[in-house]
Amino acid sequence: MPPNPLSLSHRVIAADVHAVPAPFRAFAVRSEEPRHAWAARAPYGRVHILRTAFLDAGSLASLATAGDSRVSIETSLDIDYATTTLPDLSAAAPGLPDLVGHIASALQLTGVLGSDPADYRRSVATRIDYVAARGAGFHNDVSRHWSRCLFWLLALDLAEVDFVMPHAGVTLALAPGDLLVFDQTMAHGLCRPGDTGQAVAASFGNGAPGRQIFLTGELLLSDAQWALLGAPWLPVEDHEQRAALDLMVAEFDERSGAIKRVRALRDSMKRSTCHVDASGGRQRVAAGAPDHDVAA
Ligand SMILES: [Fe+2]
Repeated sequence: MPPNPLSLSHRVIAADVHAVPAPFRAFAVRSEEPRHAWAARAPYGRVHILRTAFLDAGSLASLATAGDSRVSIETSLDIDYATTTLPDLSAAAPGLPDLVGHIASALQLTGVLGSDPADYRRSVATRIDYVAARGAGFHNDVSRHWSRCLFWLLALDLAEVDFVMPHAGVTLALAPGDLLVFDQTMAHGLCRPGDTGQAVAASFGNGAPGRQIFLTGELLLSDAQWALLGAPWLPVEDHEQRAALDLMVAEFDERSGAIKRVRALRDSMKRSTCHVDASGGRQRVAAGAPDHDVAA
C-alpha cells in the first residue's frame, strides 16, 4: 500500500526558556544585512517536528545514496553540504514526482510563513541541499541572510541520533522521514542518546552507522512574519536593555555547546559594534548612521 502523504504527526516543542550565561539574561541575534544593521530579534520560541510519510523506504534509501555520493565527512562531528537540483531529486526518487510539494505541504502545517501554500512551495524550491554529518558539534548558522530564516531538515538516513539545542532544553530523537523546523541561530548539534546531550566524536565512527544524511533548506521570513512569531526585529538598544547576548558573535564549545568568552560579548548590543556586509565582506558601520538604509 503506498504511503499516505497526509498521515503525519506534528509536534510543537517549546523552546522559549533559555539557559543564558551571566551576566546576560536573554538571547537575541543581530544581522549582517544592511536592512537590519542596528536591529536584532529574539530566537523563535518553538521547534516543530513532523513525522512524515510521503517518502517510502525505497525513496529514502535512494535519496540518501545520492546525497552520500556527493559529500565528504571523514571526521566525526563534521558537516558537509552538497547542492542538488529538482531534476536530480526527481531522478533519485522517481516514485515521488512532486517532492517539493510534499515537503511544502508538511511545512505549511507549522504556519511559520502564514497560510498561503505558495509561500512554502516557493521557499522549498528556492534551495534544497543535501547535508551529511557524523554527529554534529554544537554550532549555529548566522551568516549572510540567515538571521532572517528558519531552517528545515528532512532526515533521510540515520539511527540512534538526537537533535539537541542545549540552551533551549530541547532534545529530540530523530527517525528517517522526520521533518524538523527550528531556529538555527540557536546552538544545535547531533548527539548519541547515551551521551547526555554532549556531541562526542568517539561515538560517531566510520561507515554508514556513524553518518546521518538529510535534505535541508531555509524559510525566509519577512519582518511582519517575525513579529507574528513573537520575535520582532527591534533596535539593538531594546535588546541591550534586556541584557541580551548576541548569537551572531557567540562561539560555542563543540562538545558541550557552552558559550565561550562570555565577557567579551558584553558590548554586542550596541550600535558601535554592529556590522553589515555591504560589499561582499564584513565591514564596520559608522555609529549614528541612519537606520536600515546603508545599502541595497
Ligand atoms: Fe546547523
